[in-house]
Amino acid sequence: MKRILFVDDEVNMLRSLQRMLRDMRREWEMVFVESGEAALRELAGSPFDVVVADVRMPGMTGLELLRRVRGEYPAVVRIILSGHFDQDAALGAVRLAHQSLYKPCQQDELKATIRRAFVLQHVLVGDEVKIVAAEIDRLPSLPALYNQIIQQLSSPDASMKKIGDIISMDIAMTAKMLQIVNSAYFGLRRQIATPAEAVVYMGLEQIKALVLSLHIFSHAQLDGFSDAFLNDLWEHSFATGVLAREVAQARSTDRVLIDGAFTAGVLHDVGKIVFASNYPQAYSDIVRTAKDDRRCLHEIERDHFRVTHTEIGAYLLSIWGLPEKIVEAVLFHHHPSRCADDHFSALAAVHVANHFSSKGSFAGQGIPTTLDLEYLDRVGLTADLRELERLAARVRATAR
Ligand SMILES: [Fe+2]
Ligand SMILES: [Fe+2]
Repeated sequence: MKRILFVDDEVNMLRSLQRMLRDMRREWEMVFVESGEAALRELAGSPFDVVVADVRMPGMTGLELLRRVRGEYPAVVRIILSGHFDQDAALGAVRLAHQSLYKPCQQDELKATIRRAFVLQHVLVGDEVKIVAAEIDRLPSLPALYNQIIQQLSSPDASMKKIGDIISMDIAMTAKMLQIVNSAYFGLRRQIATPAEAVVYMGLEQIKALVLSLHIFSHAQLDGFSDAFLNDLWEHSFATGVLAREVAQARSTDRVLIDGAFTAGVLHDVGKIVFASNYPQAYSDIVRTAKDDRRCLHEIERDHFRVTHTEIGAYLLSIWGLPEKIVEAVLFHHHPSRCADDHFSALAAVHVANHFSSKGSFAGQGIPTTLDLEYLDRVGLTADLRELERLAARVRATAR
């Protein structure tokens, strides 16, 4: 039975959580405590799978508690529960929690968040991923710029202009971002001259995704790899993001889903960069074998490293505190059936986008991918495959 520890100094909040989750008692063993200190005593007594902690508590704060949990019980999934989101809390949550819930939270959302935490926990904190992640010493850092944007967002006088100003201070990032935003991929009718305009025209989520991916790609130290490897991977990642967004946009009006599809698309293969920068020799052999033998890269990775770029990538993004739906899309992009969700999601969009942007004149490094047809059927995408192929061709044509 899964064990969940809830920590909140407000007794009424604990009662309300208890009420909302009453019908889960057969599946989950739930313990409710009123302070961080009491939570640590519980954790020392018997193992838990998930901790859900309030941010503001007298004595030990929720963030302090989560920091202790991260250090002492790294396999426990950490969820922060917050009513009033101040700057420190937002920043701390990014660093310390896997997921955030906002008070008052709805019953369904609460259950779904915890359920997904179990799926992620199973894969991400499996012994193999933990061992491999511990051996890796070059793990890309979360860019300071990204943190500053998050911080600005939580301030009461946040504005697009201020966020644009923050980005403008990083000259290299600004140049790259403007080049991409003005590329044919985005099909904007006007020339974008400043980051502030980019934020307005592209939307904040897409700009945040670009900050992350441009940072990772420009700071990657891949000794022993040709520039072509990184260029190809960038082109493939970016095309996947754009295509995933198009796929999502054609099927949903949910802004979070559409933006999530773009973000997960541009970041889906980030684990490859982690492998390439930590194990250059072994990884270039793996990439060559995949090309020469026409085998899926992730299969060869698993033979060699015991884990794949999907797990390492998802692990990295979960440490960075990216939304769980994005981590999930990255984690399952080659095998979406393994995800518990049967609805159209960012994962579905990234799965097909990755496939179609690995073909034709898209770089994709000449490595084969497969479509999970059973899953596509479940989420209702099978009938659309031809249309998706046409969409991919259109994105490809714009990019030329
Ligand atoms: Fe991949
Ligand atoms: Fe890919």
